[in-house]
Amino acid sequence: MPRNQSSPLSQPMFSEPTFNEQGTPTPDPTSFRTPHDPKQDDILYNEFKKLMEKDTVSFDTIRGKNDDILSLATALGSNGPSDVQDIQKSGKVVFHAIGDSGASNERKLPGELNVADHLTNDFNASTGADRPAFLYHLGDVVYSFGESQFYYDQFYEPFRNYPAPIFAIPGNHDSFVIPGTQSGETPLDIFTRNFCSPTLQITKEAYSLHRTAMTQPGVYFALDAPFVRIIGLFSNALEDPGLISSQSGQKTTWPGVPDYQLDFLAAQLKRIKAEKYTGAVIIAVHHPPFTYAPSGSTKSGHVGNTMMLREIDAICQAQGVYPHAFLSGHAHNYQRYTRNLSFGGNDYSVPFVVAGNGGHNITLLPGSQKSTIDTYEPIADVQVDYLDPNPVLKTKGLTLDMSNDRNYGYLRVTVDSKRLQIEMHTLSSHTVPASVDKVAVDIASHKIA
Ligand SMILES: [Fe+2]
Repeated sequence: MPRNQSSPLSQPMFSEPTFNEQGTPTPDPTSFRTPHDPKQDDILYNEFKKLMEKDTVSFDTIRGKNDDILSLATALGSNGPSDVQDIQKSGKVVFHAIGDSGASNERKLPGELNVADHLTNDFNASTGADRPAFLYHLGDVVYSFGESQFYYDQFYEPFRNYPAPIFAIPGNHDSFVIPGTQSGETPLDIFTRNFCSPTLQITKEAYSLHRTAMTQPGVYFALDAPFVRIIGLFSNALEDPGLISSQSGQKTTWPGVPDYQLDFLAAQLKRIKAEKYTGAVIIAVHHPPFTYAPSGSTKSGHVGNTMMLREIDAICQAQGVYPHAFLSGHAHNYQRYTRNLSFGGNDYSVPFVVAGNGGHNITLLPGSQKSTIDTYEPIADVQVDYLDPNPVLKTKGLTLDMSNDRNYGYLRVTVDSKRLQIEMHTLSSHTVPASVDKVAVDIASHKIA
């Protein structure tokens, strides 16, 4: 029986985090718990499309200090220290990442379940050191606008059998506020309740399921796992552009966006430098710095977010630390770029990965050709320096190495003491078979192996 939302019983206290339902995995649902007319979804989205060009949201600072890190050991509970020790002993960590998974209506549910079930199967089929330690969600967990009543259908139920922690940064769909929303019930309030809980609890959004709310310190945070540190930034509520600050001093400013994350990013990079951290550093941000459009084209599914990237680059330059890779979502497809740059006198090659094919929808890239199974040719190996205008850093070219705009998929990331390897596992579709695309970065040299 679902837990009654209006139950007068107080919530039980938990001393240990729970990630999945115990016992045999249950079959996939065939419908939503909260029925929802797909037409309503489009109506709602179109009604607020204009506002999504200008209505930013404010948010709280993280609990704790800017240079604090959330360790994987803490998130895993009392077994965490020994689990993390096992990962360290095994010599590598594996984790999953996806973006844009939320099925905004029942028609989209098979897409989301397909990805969620593949993630769960991949976890269960992996043993020992190959078993993923967690899933990192790159945002847009619940569509259309992060409503409480859809967390069950779009998050808790699809991932009910996924047996590991799920961390998340909010996407624009997890944060845009529909006018008239009650205070305390905005999408970020609900996201915070479910992902940034100060205590271990099962939220009302989970109904009868047992996954406890994640205990991130905020909507932006640094996750420290063996061999890798992920700095997650919240890029706010607009469709475009992504914003991690008010961008004060620019031609267009966004006074409603707090600037906390600039200091947070600087503090995190400073800590990495001070610690002489030797692991891989990843920046995760929902809006992708780069997204493809042919040169000279005015058509694009989304615009790139080079102003946001300029801010990140400037902070990296000031702190003398550059990440080994960027992970994003937002564009509903897969895109993998390499940005070559000179940093601190060394040549770096940095993958920028867009993994917005997590189940919500698939969007063709501008200029992509309709095809059959035999004729699909992804847009790949294209020089796209024009997507990186006026960079802060000395750049040496940007290429779109690989893309896929036909298949859902997920990232499987493996990090050891020497190498960061990012794999996109696409699932088979009606027209294009499953595939794996991979890139590996040498951690010490920041060069693609
Ligand atoms: Fe998005």
